[in-house]
Amino acid sequence: MGNEKIRLGIIYGGKSSEHEVSLRTALSIMKAVDANRYEVTPIYVQLDGSWVKGDAIAGQLPERIDALRLSSGSPDENTEISSTGRQMIPSSKPASLFSIGQQVDVIFPVVHGPNGEDGTIQGMLELANLPYVGAGVMASAVGMDKWMMKTVFAQTGLPQVKYVGLLRSQWENNREGTMDRIEHELGYPCFVKPANMGSSVGVNKAKNREELATALNVAAKFDRRLIVEEFVSARELEIGVLGNEEMITSVVGEIIAAKEFYDYEAKYKGAGTELAIPAMVPEHVSEQIADVAKKAFQALDGSGLSRVDFFWDEKNDKLYINEVNTMPGFTPFSMYPMLFQAAGISYSELIDRLVQLGIERHADKQRNIVDAEELE
Ligand SMILES: Nc1ncnc2c1ncn2[C@@H]1O[C@H](COP(=O)(O)OP(=O)(O)O)[C@@H](O)[C@H]1O
Ligand SMILES: [Mg+2]
Repeated sequence: MGNEKIRLGIIYGGKSSEHEVSLRTALSIMKAVDANRYEVTPIYVQLDGSWVKGDAIAGQLPERIDALRLSSGSPDENTEISSTGRQMIPSSKPASLFSIGQQVDVIFPVVHGPNGEDGTIQGMLELANLPYVGAGVMASAVGMDKWMMKTVFAQTGLPQVKYVGLLRSQWENNREGTMDRIEHELGYPCFVKPANMGSSVGVNKAKNREELATALNVAAKFDRRLIVEEFVSARELEIGVLGNEEMITSVVGEIIAAKEFYDYEAKYKGAGTELAIPAMVPEHVSEQIADVAKKAFQALDGSGLSRVDFFWDEKNDKLYINEVNTMPGFTPFSMYPMLFQAAGISYSELIDRLVQLGIERHADKQRNIVDAEELE
């Protein structure tokens, strides 16, 4: 690429409960990258799912999230202009992305949750043949669905809590039988979650049958796939993984929640939650965490980044993997960047590395022969 700037597209926002978090992340990345080496094009996915591309935003570096959300871009023959004067690229038309594709070298999708880190945006970027940061379609999809992720962990032999996966229809068609099964296999207290959410949305602890019914009803509002887990009284430890086929891990961090569990309020409003970096745990625990995290990353065929979350039952010295987040919170004050900061990799260096990893993975994929006739 020589002295030419890397043209970096940032897709942010999205139709998810983590919309605001995504805005903060996009803003942080734009502020952190070296303007001499990057030319940034923000691509905003509005709450209604429509797309807005704004070249103008890159130069302005708005101080406030509102400014970022409301900035309008300069007209471009490939995009439609809405009545508000903004460039509107309907999300249902991936073809619009092909035109953006000619203006960027690599995309950093920082959209969390369903329609963001679940492989849908990644699939669109694959169709557009654009290099992008982070996990591909499969790792994103598996990492988003807690039930599928647990199935993969089980197959890989990773230590995890006992769980029961079920469909909403199973619950709705046979409530008593479903609760009998959960009581038999897990008992109380248990944790009920929608399989595809994130940010603790729809997650509830149940201490008896009545609470279980309520928790299942709540989770069923968010997803048709549900997961119930055995409750573990444990410390919550997290580690960052960075790389493609070869990877490094960060230091281990701990989330110390004042509330009963690490819920949405605690996560994003910082209500009484403290982060300990590095976590004060014995070396054999941090070693095991690094080892299991790499295995989980490989099992999902991860690339770029992932934050891998664990439960450590200190009393019995037992470690359980909880989940892999393929698009973890990524502001400078989020766990993942802070874990690497503590490992000696700054926020802007982290972005540099992730962009390079995305470009490398794309290049590696171009080696694949798509037409058998090419062999002859
Ligand atoms: N099996 C469990 N035992 C004890 N606490 C749990 C369990 N599962 C989840 N939690 C608590 O709920 C929080 C959110 O659950 P998690 O599975 O991480 O969902 P999310 O994808 O929303 O982060 C965890 O950080 C933890 O505090
Ligand atoms: Mg979690």
